[in-house]
Amino acid sequence: MKVTWKLPDGSEIAADVANGTNMMEAAVANNVPEVIGECGGSLACATCHVYVDADWEAATGEIDDFEDAMLDATEAERSDASRLSCQIIAADALDGLVLIVPKA
Ligand code: FES
Repeated sequence: MKVTWKLPDGSEIAADVANGTNMMEAAVANNVPEVIGECGGSLACATCHVYVDADWEAATGEIDDFEDAMLDATEAERSDASRLSCQIIAADALDGLVLIVPKA
């Protein structure tokens, strides 16, 4: 699937990501700044915070209670579009996904 990260400076990084890969791993592999993934995707750090483009919010699914609690610990301000990108898993249904990287 294809994913595009929109960066705070207005530039974009696009990549093809294998199904099953989480969006934190994909961001790190593609040198997306500010997506750190300190805990390795175990929902313990919130350094993989992104905003999901409005067109993709429904497709990325519901936030579970644990992610919801962790999203209160993000460095950049939380919004309705906030997700922890390690919890978004590449799949055909997300082909074309757009993620917005918060300002540091
Ligand atoms: S990588 Fe730590 S919560 Fe996502």
